[in-house]
Amino acid sequence: MYEDINPLPRLLMGPGPINADPRVLRAMSAQLLGQFDPQFRMYMRETMALYRDIFETKHEWTFVIDGTARSAIETVMVSVIEPSDRVVVASFGRFGQLKVEIAKRCGADVRVIEAPWGTVFAPEQIEAAIKQHQPKLLAICQGDTSTTMLQPLDQIGAICRKHGVLLQVDATASIGGAALPVDAWQIDCVTGGLQKCLAGPSGAAPITLSDRMAEVIRKRRHIEEGLRPKDYVPGAGRVIASNYFDLAMIMDYWSDKALNHHTEATSMLYASRECARIYLQEGRPSILKRHAVASGALVAGIEAMGLKVYGDKAHKMPNVTGIYIPDGVNGDRVRACMLNDFNIEIGTSFGPLHGKIWRIGTMGYNARKDCVLVTLGALETALSAEGHRVARGAAVDAALAIHRSAERAG
Ligand SMILES: Cc1ncc(COP(=O)(O)O)c(C=O)c1O
Repeated sequence: MYEDINPLPRLLMGPGPINADPRVLRAMSAQLLGQFDPQFRMYMRETMALYRDIFETKHEWTFVIDGTARSAIETVMVSVIEPSDRVVVASFGRFGQLKVEIAKRCGADVRVIEAPWGTVFAPEQIEAAIKQHQPKLLAICQGDTSTTMLQPLDQIGAICRKHGVLLQVDATASIGGAALPVDAWQIDCVTGGLQKCLAGPSGAAPITLSDRMAEVIRKRRHIEEGLRPKDYVPGAGRVIASNYFDLAMIMDYWSDKALNHHTEATSMLYASRECARIYLQEGRPSILKRHAVASGALVAGIEAMGLKVYGDKAHKMPNVTGIYIPDGVNGDRVRACMLNDFNIEIGTSFGPLHGKIWRIGTMGYNARKDCVLVTLGALETALSAEGHRVARGAAVDAALAIHRSAERAG
């Protein structure tokens, strides 16, 4: 017989997933309820309200998609895009490329603008692309973990409104760790994930939709046979090509109509609700500061060790840091030493950055002083074991100094 599941006590310091907050794991172990149980419907409504606070929005259509973060991205695209609709994807890394891929599969006429990896877009570049291509939808990441860059979005929503374009933001990696006031920034749609700054597991994806985006989707509302109410009038638009990812039906399911769709992933709903509850209990200012301090301390440690941080530092995500692998060092062997000798996971990287940088996450439950310090200490030893000499102790001292000064400032 196979043994019980008994995971090694890893510290997950990669670009996500990270260790879940134990309170989230406890919530997930609660007994199941049926999705039409009044108590469960109450948990669903509470989850909607909690995520409105997280997204800083009044959008009625704020809920959770059952699936990992890319399922929410795909849900939006398949429900909004009709074949030949023009879509601009502003891509500054691998997760921009993912949105290109999904939009193409939805039959969109995709126009891609690219910022070199390690940089972000100026708002003027986005506006120029919108003027040139006149898309229905603009899709962009807030934080792209592949390059560790954080795209400023404060002006993009207004630009999209001015030109009548819908704005879809992928905040999988940044939601909770970086400011994203959805209403103030006039964003039509944001999708996230739990497994990074929200301190949960992957498998549920918070989403919020503006009324104008919901209207576009509602026009394509076609309820599946067997569930149609007597007064059912199908939408005038084209049937959404996916049943599972049909946002019009998913909205009916989350609404007070409680129209059946999928069997709710009950334990993931508990997890989503608990992630949001814990987040709001600590409070946004404290959490944003915790991420900024942990990231600042990590960077200080890396530089004190004589290593170089990847990319435009002014636009680095506050929860993931790219670090150049020093010349002559085998990056995979260093990662293996950290994993096997210290139980610490750090990230490799994709595409053009593969073999060139490591990525270290300081987010969610792991955006903590102790996590930063032990990771730096382990990295220092792993580098020494590979014959790369660093000033011993300098990294941990520098990181500790940042944390101490933040603690003194209160
Ligand atoms: C920016 C971004 N978008 C999308 C995804 C895909 O998320 P998932 O693996 O949860 O489907 C990730 C995963 O790391 C991500 O960082």
